[in-house]
Amino acid sequence: MLLLPQDRGFIHPHPSEITPRESYLRRRDWLLAGAAMAVGGPAALGSGPAHAQGKGPKLAGARSSVAGAMAMDAPTAYNDATTYNNFYEFGTDKSDPARNAHTLKTRPWTVAIEGEVKKPKTWDIDELLKLAPMEERIYRLRCVEGWSMVIPWVGYSLSELIRQAEPTGNAKFVEFVTLADPKTMPYVGSRVLDWPYVEGLRLDEAMQPLTLLSFGMYGEVLPNQNGAPVRLVVPWKYGFKSAKSIVKIRFVEKQPRTAWVKAAAQEYGFYSNVNPKVDHPRWSQATERRIGEAGGIFAKKRPTLMFNGYEPQVGQLYAGLDLAKNY
Ligand code: MTE
Repeated sequence: MLLLPQDRGFIHPHPSEITPRESYLRRRDWLLAGAAMAVGGPAALGSGPAHAQGKGPKLAGARSSVAGAMAMDAPTAYNDATTYNNFYEFGTDKSDPARNAHTLKTRPWTVAIEGEVKKPKTWDIDELLKLAPMEERIYRLRCVEGWSMVIPWVGYSLSELIRQAEPTGNAKFVEFVTLADPKTMPYVGSRVLDWPYVEGLRLDEAMQPLTLLSFGMYGEVLPNQNGAPVRLVVPWKYGFKSAKSIVKIRFVEKQPRTAWVKAAAQEYGFYSNVNPKVDHPRWSQATERRIGEAGGIFAKKRPTLMFNGYEPQVGQLYAGLDLAKNY
């Protein structure tokens, strides 16, 4: 994340910022769907919002009733969300994951639940898919680099899985370990990060219903470059907390050492809550560019919202915490 010398102090414009006609038309569909909703209620939308589809297998999700889970912003075009990615195991350019992640093997796949739990278990991915009903959640994703997207995810609250595991009284944090397979992930041999990519949350953050275990997006299974077959999505935190291609979830007593904290603790903290008032040491976090928005690089930037707009749901988790120190 802008750690590389060529990136320092320079944000490259991306071709997707010049809104393609397709994406504009889709946005119009979305606005029309919104109008239908206002007139006829959710039923007017049929099975759900009219998203652009890729070519992946379908994975439907029912409209979520979790508070804050259905942002009314226009979803980012499918093409942008699947070709402008951060997934360093497949390269550090935004276009690398879409080009390289076809080598990722998502079956067989297991997710091990370990550590401070009464019921440790290694879940087969197909069993995990059936653990709870799939929901669609439309979340804003704000990357620490200063761009954002709006993505219709499919999955269920991580809390469903945590409840099955029955954490012990010693479990204070949850650590997410992702796949690091040099055979299928070309950059795992590089020294960009200390692999595997590890992320973490406080247990209460992991239990917050908005914290999503995601298996799909845009009504389909996750494309490899977006973190197949299972990833985390924590919408009030910077995008790097949303670990992709998870293989292990560990319940621990001490705050995990995450990959980005190990790489640059002064720049990327453990909390990483979206906060327009706490700048990154090298750039402001007050505004953001919405990928694919009309006007491209000339589009007016949007103000970044406290906790990415999810303050009503999550603000109380941080009562009394100095957010400038605990960035
Ligand atoms: N997970 C893994 N395993 N490796 C990564 O490099 N990048 C993170 C996060 N999860 C990353 C990861 C970052 S920096 C962001 S912004 C989001 O994934 C990007 O998710 P997206 O490509 O689906 O938008």
